[in-house]
Amino acid sequence: MDKLKGLDLEGKLVLDAGTGGCNMTKYLENWGAEVVSIDIRNDWQVDCREQTSHTEFVTGDLSQMDFLEDEVFDYVICNFVVSALSQTKELLLSSAFREFYRVLKKDSMLVIIDYYPFEGDRCPVPCNNLQVELWRLENAVSELLGEGHLEEYHPDILASELIALGFRDTDTSVLLEKVPWPKDLIAEHEQSILEKINTLEEDHLKEALKQKLRYLIDAAKDQKIESGAIYELRALK
Ligand SMILES: C[S@@+](CC[C@H](N)C(=O)[O-])C[C@H]1O[C@@H](n2cnc3c(N)ncnc32)[C@H](O)[C@@H]1O
Repeated sequence: MDKLKGLDLEGKLVLDAGTGGCNMTKYLENWGAEVVSIDIRNDWQVDCREQTSHTEFVTGDLSQMDFLEDEVFDYVICNFVVSALSQTKELLLSSAFREFYRVLKKDSMLVIIDYYPFEGDRCPVPCNNLQVELWRLENAVSELLGEGHLEEYHPDILASELIALGFRDTDTSVLLEKVPWPKDLIAEHEQSILEKINTLEEDHLKEALKQKLRYLIDAAKDQKIESGAIYELRALK
């Protein structure tokens, strides 16, 4: 995938917003960037430290980065994090964007990489219905557990919000048009949804959700499911 194409990262100070599984952190280090990687959870950090050489890992909330000074970073990179912000709190987007703006140097860049909304005709690649239904089921179970859920945003909406916050220019490109879901990814989804369903208390609800999950997974076996499109939104301060 052609992420961050044409950007000069060597020797630049980069905020890796949302460490997660540390894929972007490694990528940035490989391109010679000095990386500060922040995540609200710290349970992956030990592993990430083993996979990187000089990144500084910080546990913190992207919407409240009081520990960082103004105008220090050359880039802020959000790799599949904007859709995950709603997992921890609601209405977090603007506060996180305001923080990204504050910590970026003038003329420097915020890059957001994430999924187009799965549903809706503005996605450049229409999604497979089974994928959308699995996504709905996973989000519904998360909501029932009070965990919040993943939320995809259209890049045009994010771009307007960024301009309103003071960014002076934005540019969006589609990174990936069609990638088939590998079988192990489907199995991973099934497992994670099942684990969540099993923690619910009501037996009849559990059974109904398990039935729906089984139906979707069985149907997925006979189909080639393709991922939705991914966008890269660049915004200049
Ligand atoms: C899909 S993962 C990110 C993947 C990662 N960037 C990569 O390239 O491998 C999303 C991450 O966002 C983090 N996250 C969600 N809300 C956050 C917040 N308010 N502040 C910091 N991190 C947050 C989650 O803990 C999770 O680790």
